[in-house]
Amino acid sequence: MRKMAAHAAAITPERLHSRMDSADTPVELQQLSDAYNAMLDRLAQGYQRLTQFSADLAHEIRTPVGSLMGHCQVALRQRRSEDDYQALIASNLEELERISRIVESILFLARADETQAVVERQQLSLHDESQRIADYFEGLAEERRMTFQITGGGNVLADALLLRRALSNLVANAIRYADEGTEILMRVTQTHGGSRIEVENQGPVLSDETLGKLFDRFYRGDASRHQNSDSYGLGLAIVVAIMQLHAGQVRVEQPKPGIIRFSLSFPAA
Ligand SMILES: Nc1ncnc2c1ncn2[C@@H]1O[C@H](COP(=O)(O)OP(=O)(O)OP(=O)(O)O)[C@@H](O)[C@H]1O
Ligand SMILES: [Mg+2]
Repeated sequence: MRKMAAHAAAITPERLHSRMDSADTPVELQQLSDAYNAMLDRLAQGYQRLTQFSADLAHEIRTPVGSLMGHCQVALRQRRSEDDYQALIASNLEELERISRIVESILFLARADETQAVVERQQLSLHDESQRIADYFEGLAEERRMTFQITGGGNVLADALLLRRALSNLVANAIRYADEGTEILMRVTQTHGGSRIEVENQGPVLSDETLGKLFDRFYRGDASRHQNSDSYGLGLAIVVAIMQLHAGQVRVEQPKPGIIRFSLSFPAA
């Protein structure tokens, strides 16, 4: 017991990797020692995630801030016409909007982590909600000659704004990453265990390794990294946070190569 107390006293954020040696723990204390080590595993993991998150955050914000400063420095080197100043301000505003969206997403995730987010549950029809999102994204989908198909039905007890946000993130991804001219399928099912909505699209084949990383904060596939300066890799992390707030689950699978299916499962009301 004294050894254990000394070990606990020596734990600091820098020494989170240290564990009790189970070999010299008496049988009576084995369970306690195992639980204690498992707790340290979880703390070390959470700490590592947090450290990574702040490093990524700094990195993400550094780029737009650097480009803002660059534009201003160049403009200040000499007198410019009114048009030039207007163009500069407009482009700066765009960059600031990007930063503000990143910050908003990160704040959302931070609040969800602390479960401070207020979840106002109400009965919602998953079919109606899907239709609503499809209508909203119709224009964007048309630009890539994509169509929606919505099937099934079921109810869910969820926060309307959060549910819409989760669905929007999935559908925005489908429109961005699926092949042009394909269909986005939204399939709703209701079972006694709860209800479920799947968003399925056709696109490039993803490796299992990539599939495992999609939900990580700031993870972006190569394609989006190169083509889309408007992608932060936070959309799916937000979906995960929203499903956690609803005690639900989000999954991704590839039932066939090139078919990507995201499913949100909600527990029964
Ligand atoms: N439906 C999909 N089909 C193929 N790849 C996808 C799909 N949805 C997401 N991905 C991949 O997962 C990555 C992470 O998606 P996520 O929505 O979290 O971020 P993002 O779309 O890059 O940026 P944003 O923060 O704007 O949503 C994407 O960059 C993309 O590579
Ligand atoms: Mg996205």
